[in-house]
Amino acid sequence: MRFRRPTLALLVMAASAGMTVTAAPAFARPEPPARIAPLGPDFLWGVANSGFQSEGHAPDSNWSRYAASGRTEDTYRDSIDFYDHYESDIELARQLGVKVYRISVEWARVQPQPGVWDENGLRFYDKVIGAIRAAGMRPMLTLDHWVYPGWEADRGGWSNPDIVSDWLANARTVVDRYATADPLWVTFNEPTMYMLNELRMGNVSAAAMPVMQDRIAQAHNAVYDYIHRVQPGAMVTSNVAYLPSVEDAVDGPLMSRIAAKLDYIGIDYYYGMSPDALYSPDIASMWKNPLQPEGIYYALDHYARTFPGKPLYIVENGMPTENGAPRADGYARADDLRDTIYWVQRAKADGMNVIGYNYWSLADNYEWGSYTPRFGLYTVDVETDATLTRRPTDAVPAYTAITGAGGVPADYRPTREPETCSLLDAPSSCTDPVVLPR
Ligand code: BGC
Repeated sequence: MRFRRPTLALLVMAASAGMTVTAAPAFARPEPPARIAPLGPDFLWGVANSGFQSEGHAPDSNWSRYAASGRTEDTYRDSIDFYDHYESDIELARQLGVKVYRISVEWARVQPQPGVWDENGLRFYDKVIGAIRAAGMRPMLTLDHWVYPGWEADRGGWSNPDIVSDWLANARTVVDRYATADPLWVTFNEPTMYMLNELRMGNVSAAAMPVMQDRIAQAHNAVYDYIHRVQPGAMVTSNVAYLPSVEDAVDGPLMSRIAAKLDYIGIDYYYGMSPDALYSPDIASMWKNPLQPEGIYYALDHYARTFPGKPLYIVENGMPTENGAPRADGYARADDLRDTIYWVQRAKADGMNVIGYNYWSLADNYEWGSYTPRFGLYTVDVETDATLTRRPTDAVPAYTAITGAGGVPADYRPTREPETCSLLDAPSSCTDPVVLPR
């Protein structure tokens, strides 16, 4: 059976009752500037990945069990074996000129048994984080990118009332160990998607989803305070997957529970949506989803209005191909990247406090059940290339030029025109759409 991504109906279902945070109405947009300013020397350019998706040698977890169950498109094997390739991958990131390298510290690897933290597991992350810093980059550490240990799964996972204390015991261990590396923190990756994946996998029932949401909020709020005690001035978030047209309905309830404990708003933006180009949640056709680079402007604008003045960080952005083949819409990775960065620069020029951007991902990896969707700046053919060689796409020189110059050139014009009416941040994305200078 194929692993499918959640449908919009499921997404809306995930939104439980209660107060939601909602973006204030938009004001008329400024005139588009003829020349676009760079993002400046302090802007945080980065790359992102997650432990389970890239490391290989996976310890027992909810996801290792699911990937071995025959219910996914592809079995996991050792993914792209970041476990043994971390030094050369970090070197590739350094050569791109990025300043941030996002990983997740896998709970299942560092705490393989209840009450037992494995020094070997921790030493692996010591080495990775040490290599990131030695290469002149700052780590961004995710505490939970949808994976928990097998022993916690045996206790019921997010249905277990004690998971919050179990989760926090591990998170505190990780924070104690790595706070001195001055990381940026992500507590939970895309909580709503996490909940929906757990539902899909049969690990939580639909009725238990509000409970899972509440437990995530409790854990986030508690670890936020802990991180700030151990690392004064820390920057902590839980990133949202920006969902065109249903963002507030879906992510609002959780965001309202954690709104007081977010130092920056982490936003993942991937796909557009307009009346004639709808988003499909099927993992087996992700590369058919409409790309709408100006959508990143709307996503930033949405959260700039929800949290005025708060730093905004694009924690993930990228595009899928089908096994690295050219996309049917003809969009090359380099053009999509440059167009997207143009719109990040436009957002900044219009006064939005955007502080960083991570490309998802440095290299292709396990897309939660399949190796077919390819997101990497470097492509890796897990199915046919036993050497797992990282081969550069056209976006490697493009991103290197962007990080060197702080963005696209002042006179850059996107290869793709913005849509005149989309559902990206309706109704303002139709009543007052972004436009290019004449
Ligand atoms: C997730 C990643 C995933 C990416 C591309 C995000 O929702 O955080 O784990 O690989 O999207 O689908």
